[in-house]
Amino acid sequence: MPALRVNGRAFEVAAEADTPLLWVLRDTIGLTGTKYGCGAGLCGACTVHVDGVATRSCQVLLGSLKDANITTIEGLSADGSHPVQRAWIAAQVPQCGYCQSGMIMAAVALLRDKPRPNAADIAAAMTNICRCGTYPRVAQAIALAAAGTTGTTGATGATGMAGATGANKGGGR
Ligand code: FES
Ligand code: FES
Repeated sequence: MPALRVNGRAFEVAAEADTPLLWVLRDTIGLTGTKYGCGAGLCGACTVHVDGVATRSCQVLLGSLKDANITTIEGLSADGSHPVQRAWIAAQVPQCGYCQSGMIMAAVALLRDKPRPNAADIAAAMTNICRCGTYPRVAQAIALAAAGTTGTTGATGATGMAGATGANKGGGR
């Protein structure tokens, strides 16, 4: 039975080696903050970190993940207090929220690699698709996070923010 380390916890996964990581996360482990969009590696809704690298989990097979450390949106923080999540709240980024977990995971990886990204860096790294057109606020939130001016509030005023901070338990599947 393949073993997986997700958000610092070890899981024995009863799934075939050719099962996409996205299905394992959502259906086997029950971490539904990571979303299914296209299933073809195009939209980025399923973005997680594999050994710290932003990765589209619909395109990664369980059997290729031996000894890998996976981080999902739920693993950023227990309460939405990660600096990038706080920046998302401060900029009121989400509209429907569906793409936002993947957006945040891509942004966290970008800021880890380039703490002060310029517009070209953001454009190159943030290839996720948002059907609601939140791109300007995504860029604004990344700038806030880079500047360290994300505020401290835990308020979740924007629609879909719970999903974007990984706080949706059961909803928004
Ligand atoms: S669901 Fe994986 S890239 Fe769209
Ligand atoms: S798809 Fe609706 S907020 Fe991005």
